[in-house]
Amino acid sequence: MRFGVLGWGKIARTQLAPAIAQAGHELVAIGSRSPMAATLDWNETHAPVRWTSYDGVLEDPRVEAVYIALPNTQHVPWTLKALAAGHHVLCEKPMALSPADVDRLSQAAHAAQRHLHEAYMVLHHPQWAALKALDVGAWRHLQVAFSYDNRDPANIRNQAALGGGALWDIGCYAVLLGHWLMGRAPDTVRCHQTRHPDWGTDIHSQGELHWNAQTVLQFSVSTQAARQQSALAVGERGWVALDAPFNPPPRAPWRFSEGLDLPCLPDVNQYAAMLHDFVAHAQTGAPSDLGLSRGVTDTLLRLHAVAQTRI
Ligand SMILES: NC(=O)c1ccc[n+]([C@@H]2O[C@H](COP(=O)([O-])OP(=O)(O)OC[C@H]3O[C@@H](n4cnc5c(N)ncnc54)[C@H](OP(=O)(O)O)[C@@H]3O)[C@@H](O)[C@H]2O)c1
Repeated sequence: MRFGVLGWGKIARTQLAPAIAQAGHELVAIGSRSPMAATLDWNETHAPVRWTSYDGVLEDPRVEAVYIALPNTQHVPWTLKALAAGHHVLCEKPMALSPADVDRLSQAAHAAQRHLHEAYMVLHHPQWAALKALDVGAWRHLQVAFSYDNRDPANIRNQAALGGGALWDIGCYAVLLGHWLMGRAPDTVRCHQTRHPDWGTDIHSQGELHWNAQTVLQFSVSTQAARQQSALAVGERGWVALDAPFNPPPRAPWRFSEGLDLPCLPDVNQYAAMLHDFVAHAQTGAPSDLGLSRGVTDTLLRLHAVAQTRI
């Protein structure tokens, strides 16, 4: 499939553009606010692509699918434009900042008969299906910690007007894990946030998601702490610990309780796996299922709404 990219930022350059080729597809056009500047580094080492504006990508007759890697608040308008222009769309997370907007996107994808997918690459790594298939009884206690240290006020994560903040940026992975393992939204949620005094974004968010008073997921995410990620999933009859749950290194090492029999996982590029699945769905004309995306977005909004905030 021939891809165009909107926004030549870090994730597009370092992960998705290389993964398009690794998955056996072709990158034909890149849209940037400053295409001339963006051209320089890429063209030294890669096959030439067309450099243009965002609209130029959508108008390019060769482009079949568009990958959107723009700041969070620009995901909805550009996804709508790309669908209207007749393209399949792979949009970065969070695809929308409200469930109502997920519904709008879903309706637009159905009307255009194009495939739309939120780029939660983690779901395409086999460790997640293996985790869900474990015979450990009910999940009791799920724990996620995820942090990095980014104090650049110009970064999109530190700009409230662009949908920045720790909860939208990385809290979404904790909430996704809970929805994925439990198969539904939590019954109740709690949240504490520390907001930056000047930027207004949440720089630390801690939350709890409860299902039926039987299962709790606790998470702590931060944009101003040492770079780290970990997850622990404790069931009635066993536990699993993942040292890098969202960016697993080769062979995705995990530790688990005695008696569990977890497979040795293959070395997988989860971005290429996502592209492979995306294209397969687009080519078969399978309808876009945005149920999980909608649920996660709704829970993130609930967490923001109940958050007790400190500055
Ligand atoms: N799935 C993942 O693993 C993953 C990881 C990181 C980020 N993400 C998501 O990917 C998206 C992009 O993240 P990133 O880390 O690549 O960010 P980034 O490096 O800041 O890139 C964002 C790009 O958006 C474009 N842009 C348009 N309007 C902008 C504005 N007002 N301010 C700044 N940039 C603007 C710019 O591209 P041009 O200048 O070329 O137009 C910029 O390079 C976010 O939605 C983020 O949540 C996903």
